Amino acid sequence: MCGIVGYVGHRQALDVVVEALRRMEYRGYDSSGVAVLDGSGGLAIEKRAGRLANLEAALDEDGRDSFKGTAGMGHTRWATHGRPTDRNAHPHRDVEQRIAVVHNGIIENFGPLRAELEDAGVDLLSDTDTEVTVHLVARAYAEGDTAGDFEASALKVLRRLEGAFTLLFTHADHPGTIIAARRSTPLVVGVGTDEMFLGSDVAAFIEHTREAIELGQDNVVIITADDYRILDFDGEPVEGRPFHIDWDLEAAEKGGHDFFMLKEIEEQPLAVADTLRGHFTNGRIVLDEQRLTDQDLRDIDKVFVVACGSAYHSGLVAKYAIEHWARLPVEVELASEFRYRDPVLDRSTLVVAISQSGETADTLEAVRHAREQKARVLAVCNTNGSQIPRESDAVLYTRAGPEIGVASTKAFLAQVAANYLVGLALAQARGTKYPDEVAREFAELAAMPELIEKLIGRAESVRELARDMASKSTILFLGRHVGYPVALEGALKLKELAYIHAEGFAAGELKHGPIALIEDELPVIVVMPSPKGRAVLHSKMLSNIREIQARGARTIVIAEEGDETVKPFADHLIEIPASPTLLQPLLSTVPLQIFAAQVAQTRGYDVDKPRNLAKSVTVE
Ligand code: AGP
Repeated sequence: MCGIVGYVGHRQALDVVVEALRRMEYRGYDSSGVAVLDGSGGLAIEKRAGRLANLEAALDEDGRDSFKGTAGMGHTRWATHGRPTDRNAHPHRDVEQRIAVVHNGIIENFGPLRAELEDAGVDLLSDTDTEVTVHLVARAYAEGDTAGDFEASALKVLRRLEGAFTLLFTHADHPGTIIAARRSTPLVVGVGTDEMFLGSDVAAFIEHTREAIELGQDNVVIITADDYRILDFDGEPVEGRPFHIDWDLEAAEKGGHDFFMLKEIEEQPLAVADTLRGHFTNGRIVLDEQRLTDQDLRDIDKVFVVACGSAYHSGLVAKYAIEHWARLPVEVELASEFRYRDPVLDRSTLVVAISQSGETADTLEAVRHAREQKARVLAVCNTNGSQIPRESDAVLYTRAGPEIGVASTKAFLAQVAANYLVGLALAQARGTKYPDEVAREFAELAAMPELIEKLIGRAESVRELARDMASKSTILFLGRHVGYPVALEGALKLKELAYIHAEGFAAGELKHGPIALIEDELPVIVVMPSPKGRAVLHSKMLSNIREIQARGARTIVIAEEGDETVKPFADHLIEIPASPTLLQPLLSTVPLQIFAAQVAQTRGYDVDKPRNLAKSVTVE
């Protein structure tokens, strides 16, 4: 997820663009950059790794004289392809330095496009997927049936791209124009007086205009100072949807919500879709920095998963998937315990280190210990260029974008999705699943974002229940199989957001002690196994619900739509779409996130910054 802004109008573009980037740093802050058209055929570009202040310092050093002009664009990056360096920062430009591009998203077919350009003798300067687009536009503009036509050249290239993208192109030959396009990632037009804006979201221009245009899928928009035209990728005119922005700036940054976490819960379908995107090509699961061969993976005879908090819970889900698909024994360890128990590791051990920040000290030290013992390390991480992936043998990046809320939501769901990819990659390398079976499992995974979206649309009933429960001092969570890690994650969310004593149990453990906690009106949230899974799990969970209801518990049951058997035992029923057994955590977790956030809000707490917590725990 990156922040993009474009401007054509009567003001100095640099001022407008830099201010907009400042407002969009929550969308990414690995690097930032600007491009300004000076109106007399010049195109000035400056970009720097790190926070926006680094770019501003560079602009001051160079003197801003070459950045005089009333058309320009900017980008603040959350790295997916290519480390967060000056070289990989956006904007990227063509060889002649006449065209610039900024991009949010993932060009899935950038590999073959990059090869095509290299075969044509084009020297690419960065490791990014983005850069291929500007060279392709330059080549289309230089020769062939679109020569000299900026719009036609851009359209021609857009029709070749696969993946998700918001792209903005500027051309020094056309200083009063910006051409932008979107597919599956956000782009909105701001309509001012003698000035036009483009932004990843309205925060980019809300201080200048509240009149905006929503664009549809595969739309192109060409803006000049006093006009905008919307086309499809074939160049046919289409209509945008005008709307008036009622939010203030702070609400705009949070997508109209009171807290970033609430926005991030709603971003989960995209976070999961982006994490999956590009990781299944030519019928194979591919990791990001695959420095482990299939033979290395075949030589693995044991897997340890090490992580903390929510990342640890995602690792518990991974255990079920990896053992079922790859037939490998998996131990899931709290990173803070891992190296102190002298685990038995060697070159045939794979340690999967899961971390959103990539900087968690406990997990980083576990990685170092594993490498000292010659184990192979695979990082599942959301932060490109952070310490844990740098010290790992292979990396699979989640693409949840920056997660501002301290309580992990979209990063957690993206970790669960990424862990499934690790399981399929191991099964693929070891042959425990045939290619067609891997393809089928991936297809089921790829269908999950739509189901998550459907589930988020039903949030109000969960919020109503949460308001009703907000005064409770204890709430228990029960789960079986992949529902057990979900019960633990639901309890953690409630603890860290609403400061309620909450505890998750494996439901089978109830009779071994915890059932003594059950008393009248005690809320117990139960994650019901899929009725299509192991029938015994489903029937045993029904027995558990009956046991606790008989002792006065208030049962809140999360169950698949159509699971009629649970209804007589559910004081409150939260229905989730049906899904494959192993993938259910991608759905059953969502109501628990919404529930915890609403309880915290009802209690008047800061959902984004819970007490005593930090987003990244860089101390042991
Ligand atoms: C989850 O809601 C918490 N914020 C916390 O448990 C977090 O998951 C844990 O600290 C691990 O962080 P990491 O993923 O950045 O390593």
